Amino acid sequence: MSKAADRPSYDVVLVEDVPRQQIVELLQAAFGPAKTADHYTWKHVEGPWGPSRGWVAVDGDAVLGARLIVPWRLALDGRSFAASRAMDGAVTPAARGRGVFSGLVRREMSHLAAAERWHVLYSTSVPASREAYRRLGWTILEPRPSVLSVRLPRRPALVEEIDPRTVQPTIPAGRLHTDWDARGLGWRVDPRSGHRYEAVQLRNGGSRLLYRRTTLRGVPVLVVVVRTGPPEEQSALLGAACARGRCGAVILQALDPATSARPRVVSGSTVSVWQQEGPDAPVDARAGGNWTFTGADLEGVL
Ligand SMILES: CC(C)(COP(=O)(O)OP(=O)(O)OC[C@H]1O[C@@H](n2cnc3c(N)ncnc32)[C@H](O)[C@@H]1OP(=O)(O)O)[C@@H](O)C(=O)NCCC(=O)NCCS
Repeated sequence: MSKAADRPSYDVVLVEDVPRQQIVELLQAAFGPAKTADHYTWKHVEGPWGPSRGWVAVDGDAVLGARLIVPWRLALDGRSFAASRAMDGAVTPAARGRGVFSGLVRREMSHLAAAERWHVLYSTSVPASREAYRRLGWTILEPRPSVLSVRLPRRPALVEEIDPRTVQPTIPAGRLHTDWDARGLGWRVDPRSGHRYEAVQLRNGGSRLLYRRTTLRGVPVLVVVVRTGPPEEQSALLGAACARGRCGAVILQALDPATSARPRVVSGSTVSVWQQEGPDAPVDARAGGNWTFTGADLEGVL
């Protein structure tokens, strides 16, 4: 049978037209039990930039697939722009490989194109969705590596606990980045995300660190989400935070030679980008060099 003839018949409806429990069950089946109803509410109902849009493929009462779109905000040199992040997309195993996911993404692209203004839609994507995005004309940016860096412990008393919402990333000029503010960061570190975040500040410096603890092959490590402050304070900051969290190593977004003599890449995030062109475009979002991503953008949010 040809692929077209094999295509399942379905209607596309908005996510609010489907019982929420059905969407939660679809996401749980695809990603595991961590995708609870509470997690869904946190991510898709109470997001800092409004509730998610969602396109759902239905066959009668049955849900075949869904593509959720989280309203996001990007900033560039002090200007702020509405954007969108595709997070949580899944198709039931029986309906996979027949264009359902691509059809739902295409629906969102048409929705954004209708506004006829510059808009960036992006996603941190896994291999299967990445290939679908590539075929839809998206740009796949160079992977952003996470590196493991062993830390020498420092005195835990060098740091004090602070409010995670105060750890705003510092972004170089000319780079597109998430427009995090205290409200956005408060949402980002909500325990319903499935992670417990902490933040500390160097007592005699002011450099700040937002992180969570995890284990890598049974060994406790600290995952850096955002860090601020001058390079000469980073060693004390990370060492003291590690000692405080009883971790011997940190995982950092992006290769940064300053953090370790011999960093080891442990994973990578691949960001796929589509931009709706418009006369008001301030930058080309399809060029990876025009972006700065921090852990707040990449770790633990897919
Ligand atoms: C990823 C997923 C949503 C794809 O749904 P789908 O409806 O099967 O996707 P499509 O049929 O639209 O596939 C479009 C293209 O993606 C690629 N693709 C799909 N599944 C793939 C896989 N398992 N491996 C590699 N490429 C794949 C193919 O290139 C395909 O094009 P083709 O059919 O012309 O070969 C589905 O496999 C899924 O639910 N996976 C589990 C959850 C997940 O990983 N979600 C993505 C992260 S948000």
